[in-house]
Amino acid sequence: MTVADRAAAGFHQVYAQPPAGRWAAPGRVNLIGEHTDYNDGFVLPFALPLRTVAAAAPQPGETWTVWSELTGETVDFGAAEVTAAGRVTGWAGYVAGIVWALREAGYPVPGARLAIASDVPLGAGLSSSAALEAAVLAALADLGGLDLPAEAQPRLAQRAENRYVGAPTGIMDQSAAIRCRAGHALFLDCRTEQVEHIPFDLAAAGLAILVIDSNAPHRHVDGEYAARRNSCEKAAALLDVPALRDVPTDNLDDALARLPDDETRRRVRHVVTENQRVYDTVDLLRARQIQQIGPLLVASHTSMRDDFAITVPEIDTAVEAALAAGALGARMTGGGFGGCVLALVEADHSDTVANAVTDAYARRGFTAPTHTTVTPAAGATRLD
Ligand code: GLA
Repeated sequence: MTVADRAAAGFHQVYAQPPAGRWAAPGRVNLIGEHTDYNDGFVLPFALPLRTVAAAAPQPGETWTVWSELTGETVDFGAAEVTAAGRVTGWAGYVAGIVWALREAGYPVPGARLAIASDVPLGAGLSSSAALEAAVLAALADLGGLDLPAEAQPRLAQRAENRYVGAPTGIMDQSAAIRCRAGHALFLDCRTEQVEHIPFDLAAAGLAILVIDSNAPHRHVDGEYAARRNSCEKAAALLDVPALRDVPTDNLDDALARLPDDETRRRVRHVVTENQRVYDTVDLLRARQIQQIGPLLVASHTSMRDDFAITVPEIDTAVEAALAAGALGARMTGGGFGGCVLALVEADHSDTVANAVTDAYARRGFTAPTHTTVTPAAGATRLD
């Protein structure tokens, strides 16, 4: 059964009625621009063909009921749980967070029944939480006839995650889940939220993107993410700029000289050079030179490993093995400390690269990785 069929079947089973509609939102990979979003910088994600689907129908009063195929559990909440942040926890917290954020922004949110099914793996760094937020947001906005343009939705979903769930993430994942276009990467300015859809036609160039899930256990992800964000904000204050985005690349050495310690200098160098790599990647894609972006992906990975210190041995092994097997470029994608690696490969070479990574894992005694090739898909949409 497709994910959309599973959502509808789950809805029927739990509520003994058909849904009024189904809304889908994708997971994402980030081509380049890591830990730049909360520094007001630039990112270049694209949406995955893997999606989360919310089947939904109105329900009377200020009450919400949500079922998920993942746990088979049904969670109910009412106005009391969405007047203050954090009252609903676990996976349903993302749903309650959307209701909370909509109400905080003054929208009259309709009561609703929802059934959630998903093909986006959890904990793989492919933004399953943003996919859930975006699918639920689209469903509630449509059911309530809310005047909520797509451009305004990522900030609202991010607020749900930051304030209701309590994860201090940036705006990239929600923007990707909502605003991406099929066949394109999303060049997003995280300060202004302006976007440009950059054509990213891998097949026409004879290329593919291989996504390798490291299957590494996530280690200290939340604490380390918050720590990186803090260092960046402190560094911006020391440099007397609103955010690290405001440190120009050609002023980097001066800026670094004004910082008190080596660790802070490394964090800043990652962010500033990563923003530049996003620009350089976009320039190459605009010139239809996809195969030339490989070295930028590799430089991004090296910067994440050595300066931002967010990779783990499984991830570095996957990148090294992919490059040794002929990938044109490879890097970790997402927040770090596990998750996925993406490799740019010649289309007819992706099995060779994937097998080389699997062999390298076996030699190191790591849990076997999993892999898939992906093409850029569309953002959140109503299915029926
Ligand atoms: C996670 C966060 C994003 C972004 C990335 C790192 O995916 O949710 O906001 O900060 O990490 O680029």
